[in-house]
Amino acid sequence: MRELGLINGRLVDMNENVVTMEDRGHQFGDGVYEVTKVYNGKCFALRPHLDRLYQSLRAIRIPATYTFEELVQFHEALIKESGITEGSIYLQITRGAAPRVHPFPEQVVPCLTMSIRPSGPVKQELRDNGVKIILIPDERWLRCDIKSLNLLSNVLGKQQAKEAGCYEAVMVRDGSVTEGTSSNFFVVKDGVIWTHPATNLILKGVTRTILLERLAKELDLTILEKAFDVSFVKGASEAFLSGTSTEIMPVISIDGKLVNDGVVGPITRKLQAAYTQLIDEECGRN
Ligand code: PDD
Repeated sequence: MRELGLINGRLVDMNENVVTMEDRGHQFGDGVYEVTKVYNGKCFALRPHLDRLYQSLRAIRIPATYTFEELVQFHEALIKESGITEGSIYLQITRGAAPRVHPFPEQVVPCLTMSIRPSGPVKQELRDNGVKIILIPDERWLRCDIKSLNLLSNVLGKQQAKEAGCYEAVMVRDGSVTEGTSSNFFVVKDGVIWTHPATNLILKGVTRTILLERLAKELDLTILEKAFDVSFVKGASEAFLSGTSTEIMPVISIDGKLVNDGVVGPITRKLQAAYTQLIDEECGRN
């Protein structure tokens, strides 16, 4: 088993220097990315991740130079050649390398880099007992729906959470609670699940979509895509995060105040179990 990279379709050692100094991803953050989880040697929900990748590329006007089938092949090659069966695959496409001026360069080929790393399951202790979060101001730009490489606000927010002994920082813009620095955010009130609508202010998470369109329906749960404020969150009976790496993660403390006396609620538990079962089915686990 070994960590492995890929550049423009060619498998490379993870430590090989492959990106040139003037790559626009490196200099401007001019690119987009996806993260996909590998369970039992299979990519989970690869299609929706690649669909979103093409949407992000279109949104920032980078031409798509690889077909869906090619990108699937690259994911499969990384899994096969690395021998990693439980891991994450990172993929990014930048506008390519050119002398550093702001306008788009002409006749430049986008640069695709990918890597695979082992990553175990979400820590059982966190899954079972939940995590703490803090609320912070959302200082990002107004196109959070694009999965762009520009993650400075997210990085600063996550570090702030870490320094506060928390798992995640959830952001608040103009009084509305938007999302986590690398996850979507949900609360439960009077048996109804609330989450911010999929506007330009949040990333429409693949996990969020699975939750809304599949798990909630199967479990006959009501989800509202509607903005809510901090006082609403403080009065919630349950709260949880969703994301590719986070899966479905119960939140038991917000800004130091316990949610439901620190006990993970029944709706979160049901969604967690249904999500695990879906991974088992889709990836042939167990
Ligand atoms: N983060 N919101 C933000 C800001 C994110 O960065 C992510 C994912 C999500 C959840 O999206 P999904 O369910 O498609 O993973 C929501 C990835 C995993 C990351 O940056 O590592």
